[in-house]
Amino acid sequence: MNMESIVSLCKRRGFLFQASEIYGGLNGFWDYGPLGVELKRNVKEAWWQDMVQRHDDLSQLPGSPSPFSMTGIDSTIIQHPQIWKCSGHYDLFCDHMQTCRQCKKLVRSDHIPDMLRNADWFQSFVESCCIKRPDGTVEFLSPAAFDWARARKLGRRLAPGLALVRNPELTLSWLAEDLQNDPTLPSRLSMTELLQYMATLQKKQTGFQSPCPHCGGDLTDPREFNLMFKTTVGALGDEDDTAYLRPETAQGIFVNFKNVIDSTRYRLPLGIAQVGKSFRNEITPRNFTFRSREFEQMECEFFCHPDSSAEWYRYWRDRRMQWYRDLGIAGDRLRLREHEPEELSHYSTGTADIEYAFPFLADGEFGELEGIAHRGDFDLRSHMEGKLDEKSRPLQVQLGPDGKPKWRGSGKDLSYRDDLTNEKYIPHVIEPSAGADRATLAFICEAFSEDQAPDEDGKMQTRSVLKFHPRLAPVKAAVFPLVKKDGMPEMAKEIYLALKKEFNVFYDEKAAVGRRYRRQDEIGTPYCITVDGQSLTDGTVTIRDRDTLEQVRIKADDCLATVRQKIGG
Ligand code: GAP
Repeated sequence: MNMESIVSLCKRRGFLFQASEIYGGLNGFWDYGPLGVELKRNVKEAWWQDMVQRHDDLSQLPGSPSPFSMTGIDSTIIQHPQIWKCSGHYDLFCDHMQTCRQCKKLVRSDHIPDMLRNADWFQSFVESCCIKRPDGTVEFLSPAAFDWARARKLGRRLAPGLALVRNPELTLSWLAEDLQNDPTLPSRLSMTELLQYMATLQKKQTGFQSPCPHCGGDLTDPREFNLMFKTTVGALGDEDDTAYLRPETAQGIFVNFKNVIDSTRYRLPLGIAQVGKSFRNEITPRNFTFRSREFEQMECEFFCHPDSSAEWYRYWRDRRMQWYRDLGIAGDRLRLREHEPEELSHYSTGTADIEYAFPFLADGEFGELEGIAHRGDFDLRSHMEGKLDEKSRPLQVQLGPDGKPKWRGSGKDLSYRDDLTNEKYIPHVIEPSAGADRATLAFICEAFSEDQAPDEDGKMQTRSVLKFHPRLAPVKAAVFPLVKKDGMPEMAKEIYLALKKEFNVFYDEKAAVGRRYRRQDEIGTPYCITVDGQSLTDGTVTIRDRDTLEQVRIKADDCLATVRQKIGG
């Protein structure tokens, strides 16, 4: 699986475009094209159907501690700013970032090692100037480094900001000086240390510098950077009018918990679901849609009794993993990773990530698709009493210098009274939180394959095919007349219009039928229906399966029922 082929297919066939492309694009923003919008809608629809609409609240589902209810809301993107103070996003939702003093670009500190490994200049430097030893240390070829730095097409083009390139004599002199003092140094030098030498112009004045992954320039020390996008509400635009675009949909659910309970007859355990846009001013958006600045989340906050919350955590962790498997991510590219106890907040009995081995990652690396977290009563209590101090034990409201809550809560009672037992308690929450864009990207990567299929002359050719689960496929069926005459188009159009009432279908009468099949395979259409000569005499058509290439004859009148039954879901 090759990410370049996937990205190129996505653009060529209208799945994904760079946002604002005609103006040079806007980093971290992506637009979904005609096929992409259908695919992503199907992902979100499958999530909503499986989580909310089709949920059986009358039975005890396998693995669940008891029957439970599921419902949904749709809250606003801009919410009261106090929500983000109580949730912790105002104080804590930060990344550490560094700025390159040469090219002025920002980079996220924890992304630097990975970005460096993939940087063209770094690869070229290693290839030309280093011999890597099996123990991870490097043999450094100083004359080769000098030549590399001076070469117009190497150092000067690839890493114009690198100290070694800006002043090779001076930079290499620090290494030579240190070598004189300690001749054993080369045998201990790691790649990181060597790079620091290459990035440092004035070691005595500045100490060692870390290189910018973009140009090799020296980076500033890490600074905190809040990821929330700021905006203003109202015409005055004063500091008091500052508001934020939500960085997650979850808080909209917590602050509506009481509204949902008071306006419905739901009892706990109850899951409240929401699908919608979230915004994070990511410092280094990258890897296609994986880390974007505007994206969609599919989140559920599941409210339950504290005594059963650990069991519910396990239920949701396993159930969410199964959801991806059922929709076609079945192999070892999908994994569930339980967080180590030291990674957990102390109020949480568990957090797990569902991860996928995206093709843009190095071998053995996985990227997060969804997190399932046991959040205890942290969020509801923070919105009641004021932001809790996540390090306190038992949890206590975080106080400001005046001894009052640092961030005041709503003061509203968000506890729940069980009308059968009369017990009153603050529910615990299990949060399965998925990204619609990451899931869509994983489904594309998983579906992408190349195999051999016969062309219109019966010759075996390499076929590019997206093997989407039929529920997710953007186009469910294509309808073709074999040739554009003898009444075949009329019959095919009738079938097309009948299917279109229920499904996204495509009509095509142009080019040889073999080519039409291949065009549909490439976008993942699971079924192609063809009207041929025989159709006109006996009212049957062929239906071709994308994956098996098998064609069977069915009655034209049965097309809708057949596609419906095959898509199932
Ligand atoms: N309410 C919990 C929460 O928001 P998160 O791990 O920050 O948790 C949940 O986000 C999911 O949202 C992630 O697993 C991922 O699928 C998606 N997500 C987060 N940041 C993203 C980004 N910058 N671009 C695309 N998807 C993102």
